[in-house]
Amino acid sequence: MASPVLSKFNPTIFIKSLKFCGRRSLSAGTVRRTEKRNEKISEYAEGETHFGFEKVKEEEKSSKVHKVFEDVAQDYDKMNDCMSFGVHRLWKDIFMQRLSPVHGTRLLDVGGGTGDIAFRFVKYLENSSIPVNPNLSNHVTISDINNEMLEVGKRRAADRGVITAAEEVNCSVDWLEADAEKLPLPDSSFNAYTIAFCIRNCTHPEKVLEEAYRVLQPGGRFLCLEFSHVENDTLRWLYDQYSFQIIPLMGQLVAGQWRPYQYLVESIRQFPAQEEFKEMIEAAGFRCVSYENLNFGVVAIHSGFKL
Ligand SMILES: C[S@@+](CC[C@H](N)C(=O)[O-])C[C@H]1O[C@@H](n2cnc3c(N)ncnc32)[C@H](O)[C@@H]1O
Repeated sequence: MASPVLSKFNPTIFIKSLKFCGRRSLSAGTVRRTEKRNEKISEYAEGETHFGFEKVKEEEKSSKVHKVFEDVAQDYDKMNDCMSFGVHRLWKDIFMQRLSPVHGTRLLDVGGGTGDIAFRFVKYLENSSIPVNPNLSNHVTISDINNEMLEVGKRRAADRGVITAAEEVNCSVDWLEADAEKLPLPDSSFNAYTIAFCIRNCTHPEKVLEEAYRVLQPGGRFLCLEFSHVENDTLRWLYDQYSFQIIPLMGQLVAGQWRPYQYLVESIRQFPAQEEFKEMIEAAGFRCVSYENLNFGVVAIHSGFKL
C-alpha cells in the first residue's frame, strides 16, 4: 500500500515550490508595488499602453517618445548633470566596469543617444593594461531611434577626439538610426549588448529583449542600466518629492521646458521593479541573470548571458 505522504504527492506543486524556493524572496514593498503595477497594466485595453502616467494607443507611444528626445537632445547632457548632480557619470563608469570589455569586443549600444556609454567603452580599452592586439579588432555601434540624439553624439565624439582614440585601440565606430524593437542587424553579430536608460521608453520592452538575444552571439553579454525602484519607504518618499517637485521645475529653468522631465519621472514609476525585470530578461532566454542596485535602487544594472 502507498504511504499517505506519497499518495498526496503532486509533481506539479512540487516543481512549482522548488522554483519558488530558488527565487530570492521579495520584500513586502516589492510585492505591493508589483501588484499595483499589474493592476495598472490590467487597466489598459488591448492596444493601449502608458506614456508616463498617460494612457495612449500603442502606436502613438513611439512618436511621443521620439518627440521627447527630439526636444531635449540639445540640452540632454547638461540636464543629466543637473538632475543627478553629476552622479549619472559614476553610474555609467560602474556600468562599463561591470562590462569590463577586453580586446575583440563587438559592442552594440542600443538607445546610445549622445554616446556616453560608447565613449566609455573606447576609454576603457584605452586604459586597459592589456596591449592592443592588431589581430583582435574592437567595434561599437551606437544605435538610437532618434537622429537628433545621434547628431549631438557625433558632434561630441568629434569635439572629444573619440574617433582618433578609437582608431588607436583598433576600434571602429558606427552610428545607426534604428528601433530597439526591430534592429536591422544580422543574428549573432555582436558579443556585447548595452542599453542605458532606454528600455523604459520602449513600447514593448519584451521585444527589445528578444532582439538583444537575437543579435548576440552565444556567450554574449547583455547589460542594462535603468532607473529602478527604491525599496526603503523613507528614501522613496524623499526621492519622489525630489522627482516630482524639483525635476520638472529644473527642466523649465535650465532647458525651458518641463513636460519632457515630467514624462521622465513618470516613466520611471511605470517601469517594472528589479525582480520583475529580471524575470523578463530570463523569459527572453538569457541565463545567469542578476542585478545590482546603485544608490539604494534609484538605478539598477541587470546582467545576463546568451548561453
Ligand atoms: C535617456 S536617453 C539615454 C541615452 C544614453 N544611453 C545615455 O545613457 O545617456 C534614451 C535614449 O533612448 C532612445 N530611444 C527611445 N526609444 C527607443 C527605441 N525604441 N529604440 C531605440 N532607441 C530608443 C532615445 O531616443 C534616447 O536617445
